[in-house]
Amino acid sequence: MTIFNSWMPRLRTGLLVALGSLLAAPLAQAQTELSEESLAVLASMAPGAPAPTADSFVHIPPTMEDLEASSLHPELKRVIRRGYDIFTNTQQFRDEYVFNDMNCSSCHLGAGRLPFSGPIWPAAVTLPDYRPKNDHVNNLEERIAGCFTYSMNGKPPAYGSDDMIALATYHQWLASGVPMYPTGKLYGRGFPRLDEPAEKPDYERGKETYAAQCSICHGDEGAGLSVRGEVVFPPVWGDNSYNWGAGISRVFTLASFIKHNMPLGQPNSLTDQQAWDLAQFIDSQERPQDPRYTGDVKETLELYRDTFHKHTMYGQEVNGRVLGDHDNVGRKDFLKPDVLRDRTYD
Ligand code: HEC
Ligand code: HEC
Repeated sequence: MTIFNSWMPRLRTGLLVALGSLLAAPLAQAQTELSEESLAVLASMAPGAPAPTADSFVHIPPTMEDLEASSLHPELKRVIRRGYDIFTNTQQFRDEYVFNDMNCSSCHLGAGRLPFSGPIWPAAVTLPDYRPKNDHVNNLEERIAGCFTYSMNGKPPAYGSDDMIALATYHQWLASGVPMYPTGKLYGRGFPRLDEPAEKPDYERGKETYAAQCSICHGDEGAGLSVRGEVVFPPVWGDNSYNWGAGISRVFTLASFIKHNMPLGQPNSLTDQQAWDLAQFIDSQERPQDPRYTGDVKETLELYRDTFHKHTMYGQEVNGRVLGDHDNVGRKDFLKPDVLRDRTYD
């Protein structure tokens, strides 16, 4: 496996060796054992998660303490701190960019650093790339804009604006030392698909597990908990949650998120079956409309079935109601942000 953490070569001499061999030889030949220290760091970041395999590309992103200790230009440090602040306290832009109760870090735990929690550094080194979801080549800013549009049920800061560049800078800094377009399997990227469950994911079983393990924080009605305007526990469905176009509204994505991240502080404690059942239950609840809505749920389903909705419950009948058959866009007053557009590059 390849460990690539050139970021703190002073502290991790073993990793410096990996860096040297990586530069000298193709990646496939640069198989280096992870040091005990790195394995311990990984285990503390993702307790109980699958260990890296021989073809894994492992990167341990720098921490904010590393940033302070680094010799980067003070102005660059300031902008990275700003990006971190927007990522972890996105609610400061409530009703401007964000129209639900989420911070970016509500789903990307550990400020976007943790494996199996949608770590954000891979986007900085694999984009620009073609993205099936919108059928064109996306760069990092457009990928960030996607999560604003769907996961935050909002609208992104303008491309090239201070806020957008600060966010992108934070993403890119987390990828420090990783070469562009790395080969190998990026360890813990996204929310990796769990094995198929032994039994079909079941709404009723999910409902029971939700009541036993989740409702204490996320509430009986999935609305989460806010205290004096501060979000303590984010909602998992309803008007203040992610919308029908969000990646996590796909049952397999939510199942993986839950397995590896919930209940909070007890990652990987549920069985795969429990995670699938919970995902089936939660993603069968109502939430704000998909911003790609045409005005007709069936038509929207047809348009985006192959690339997206075949994995969600959108347009399906549950408890006598067709999910997503409404004009409710949640707390915002628009459907789709203007900044998102089709691109032809002509
Ligand atoms: C409701 C949950 C949720 C919230 C909130 C959220 N995201 Fe995401 N994000 C996801 C999911 C799901 C994916 C796709 C992961 C996958 O493909 O398995 C993703 C993917 C990403 C990626 C691409 C990662 C990669 O591997 O290429 C980036 C970058 C990203 N999000 C940034 C953000 C930013 C910035 C915010 C805040 C503006 C945000 N996200 C808010 C759920 C969320
Ligand atoms: C001890 C409180 C607690 C418990 C119990 C808990 N969560 Fe969470 N959950 C959180 C917090 C806090 C976050 C946001 C993470 C952050 O901000 O660091 C979160 C985030 C989430 C998210 C992503 C953001 C959103 O709101 O959609 C989902 C989905 C989720 N939890 C589902 C579950 C499920 C399913 C269970 C039960 C197995 C569960 N949680 C148990 C506290 C909890």
